[in-house]
Amino acid sequence: TAYKVGYLIGSLAKGSLNRKLAKALVNLAPAELSMAEIPFKDLPLYSYDYDADFPPPARALKDALAAVEAVLFVTPEYNRSIPGGLKNAIDWASRPYGQNSFTRKPSAIIGTSPGMLGTALAQQSLRGVLAFCNSPLMNAIEAYIQFKPGLITDDGEVTDPSTEEFLRDYMMQFHRFITLVYTALPRPEP
Ligand code: FNR
Repeated sequence: TAYKVGYLIGSLAKGSLNRKLAKALVNLAPAELSMAEIPFKDLPLYSYDYDADFPPPARALKDALAAVEAVLFVTPEYNRSIPGGLKNAIDWASRPYGQNSFTRKPSAIIGTSPGMLGTALAQQSLRGVLAFCNSPLMNAIEAYIQFKPGLITDDGEVTDPSTEEFLRDYMMQFHRFITLVYTALPRPEP
């Protein structure tokens, strides 16, 4: 079955390693998954004062999430947790109360870092957040990608064959997970 997947890149940096990883994942995804980036850099810092009237970037975020059937988080680790910008975007998307965009929307988490832990702690932290947001999370396989220089080109070409194969398998398993979730739950309205 075909699904639309929105992906959020946790980094706002121009030269982001995680953006390169996201490009690779788009290239390696099975044909059934149509992948589109969900940007969030123009969001103001969230407060519930906005709940009565979301500003345009926040509406755009909510609309983009409503239009996809699954979400992929591709995030760096900042200070052993997720970047503030990504947390801010999630806080926006989870509100107003009762209109949480992640409810029953399957998701997966992946990330890369030059460090040995490959964003493991950021991913663990994000799992707690998304669990509370009631997103069915892919538990396995996990993907902690240590970014060695040149591992992925700016165009998203993976230079190491075993990493390429692993990432291809990751996307294949995400497709299977989305399918599994939607055999149990009704699909969201288009
Ligand atoms: C980092 N970095 C980092 N790396 C890591 O493995 N664990 C960490 O806790 C942190 N903490 C951290 C905090 C801040 C504020 C910055 C700017 C960086 C290094 C980080 O992995 C590296 O900068 C990557 O390039 C970030 O990914 P993007 O932004 O290039 O996708």
